[in-house]
Amino acid sequence: MPYRDKTPPSPETARNSVYSSTRNLSQPTICLPGSLAYDVRLQMEGLHLLAALPDDSIPVVIFDPQYRGVLEHLAYGNEGETRGSPRRALRQMKGEIPEFVRAIDRVLVPSGHLFLWMDKYHLCSGFQDWMAGTRLEVVDMITWSKKKIGMGYRSRRVGEHVVALQKPPRRAKGVWTRHDIPDVWIEPVARSGHTHRKPVGLQAALIEAVSNPGDVIVDPAAGSFSVLEACRQTDRRFLGCDING
Ligand SMILES: C[S@@+](CC[C@H](N)C(=O)[O-])C[C@H]1O[C@@H](n2cnc3c(N)ncnc32)[C@H](O)[C@@H]1O
Repeated sequence: MPYRDKTPPSPETARNSVYSSTRNLSQPTICLPGSLAYDVRLQMEGLHLLAALPDDSIPVVIFDPQYRGVLEHLAYGNEGETRGSPRRALRQMKGEIPEFVRAIDRVLVPSGHLFLWMDKYHLCSGFQDWMAGTRLEVVDMITWSKKKIGMGYRSRRVGEHVVALQKPPRRAKGVWTRHDIPDVWIEPVARSGHTHRKPVGLQAALIEAVSNPGDVIVDPAAGSFSVLEACRQTDRRFLGCDING
């Protein structure tokens, strides 16, 4: 006996299903201030970039905050004078993270997504304080398997995690249109000068899932600008910056 009926759904059923690949969200037109430009590496404070954007205007923000959660709380103990020095040299965010998340909540379109990179310390101990005062709801999480073993007194890290949050109204139908993204994504770490570089392939898949070609994708702390590369691959416009350029 077949495990389940594999008969393809009728076009009408497919359109009405959460597995539909039809998007009915479109991005409003944005008038950018003259100091900002698409598809370039802006050097500026991420909160200033977000402050320049109108309310309810952006379908996707990808945010990878700079903080030392896993290193400090799990005390890996190998951040000596030389080891880990590129990581230590980066400017750390502390109190600003909730401020970034509130600003992102403001600029997202209704049913827009924030993809928030997170380490396992915050994933397990909670990140509700980052969400305070926002309407964002967790809707999914994907683990990036880097195929490269990292630190750990106990288990050794091979993964990082990206949490998908959605601004209300929370819905998949008509919004999330790629249904082939596994919740463990294997992609080798790319060689780059940036110690926290994230996978272009996974970010491109997520961008494709919840935006349309030509939409503006924002990254307010872009590091090596991996999201800019993901936007080039998917024919989206990129708007992003890093304090260090
Ligand atoms: C975790 S890294 C991002 C890595 C990036 N996702 C990539 O794939 O390369 C965080 C970045 O935030 C930047 N940063 C720290 N504070 C910032 C701020 N207030 N505004 C903008 N960028 C900031 C740091 O310079 C660092 O490059």
